[in-house]
Amino acid sequence: MARFDGKVALVTGAAGGIGRAIAHALARDGAAIGIVDLPGADPGRAAGELRTHGLRAEGVAGDVADPGSIGAAAARVAERLGPVDILINNAGVARIGTILDIAPKDWRDSFAVNVDGTFNACRAVMPAMVERRAGCVVNLASWLGKRGQAHYGAYAASKFAVVGLTQSLAYEMAPLGIRVNAVAPGLIVDTRMRSDIDELSGRMGLPQVKDRAPLLPMKRVGYPDEVARVVAFLCSDEASYVTGATWDITGGSWMS
Ligand SMILES: NC(=O)c1ccc[n+]([C@@H]2O[C@H](COP(=O)([O-])OP(=O)(O)OC[C@H]3O[C@@H](n4cnc5c(N)ncnc54)[C@H](O)[C@@H]3O)[C@@H](O)[C@H]2O)c1
Repeated sequence: MARFDGKVALVTGAAGGIGRAIAHALARDGAAIGIVDLPGADPGRAAGELRTHGLRAEGVAGDVADPGSIGAAAARVAERLGPVDILINNAGVARIGTILDIAPKDWRDSFAVNVDGTFNACRAVMPAMVERRAGCVVNLASWLGKRGQAHYGAYAASKFAVVGLTQSLAYEMAPLGIRVNAVAPGLIVDTRMRSDIDELSGRMGLPQVKDRAPLLPMKRVGYPDEVARVVAFLCSDEASYVTGATWDITGGSWMS
């Protein structure tokens, strides 16, 4: 029997990148997967890809920044697959710019998706977990949620907020049997966000992946599946005494 047999997982932003890898990791271990992503990202196609491997998945269009939209999407997932046992708040955006120069819209978008999106999805999905006194949540933070960096102020501030939200929610949910954790990935490639940042960094004269990777303790980048395997562990019974943690996945570039 696989470790997530009979479980339902809702993964936001799972049409590509790290979210897609998480969806595949949980599905390989038996979970039925609800993929919620923006309509343009084609969550239906991403779910179809899982089904071609004989796995159970539904794709639903939804915007985590809009409470009504993520509420309706979560209800659709529960209707089609059953009550959600595992929530992965993965949807995120990164906007670069110094604090004095960043466009107010980029600042706002960072918080609307990364912070409000996590808050909205928790409020859409977790009341049913509370009712059943069971469940597990993993939020995607970042090593920039533990240390600020020039040009990444909006992103870092939003990911610090995700860490604070994770810890507070973990306190609130611990007596109810629901665990809440986060992961803090470092330099993860093969994702849209990473290639967009890399291209922009090149144009702005900032260090790119090729400059940064050799300076990391492990001297290499990370891959979406390396994040997904830690997330799957945090969702499993093997992590039964882990809550409120923000787990570093950085090849040693951040240690806490
Ligand atoms: N790639 C990295 O190096 C890295 C490092 C640390 C943290 N992270 C975090 O990991 C998560 C996934 O990042 P990724 O690198 O796979 O990026 P990605 O751009 O490949 O994936 C992000 C996904 O979120 C979706 N999304 C964006 N806004 C949304 C919204 N409003 N509603 C629903 N879905 C939305 C996108 O369509 C996309 O599918 C993000 O939270 C990111 O901040 C990534």
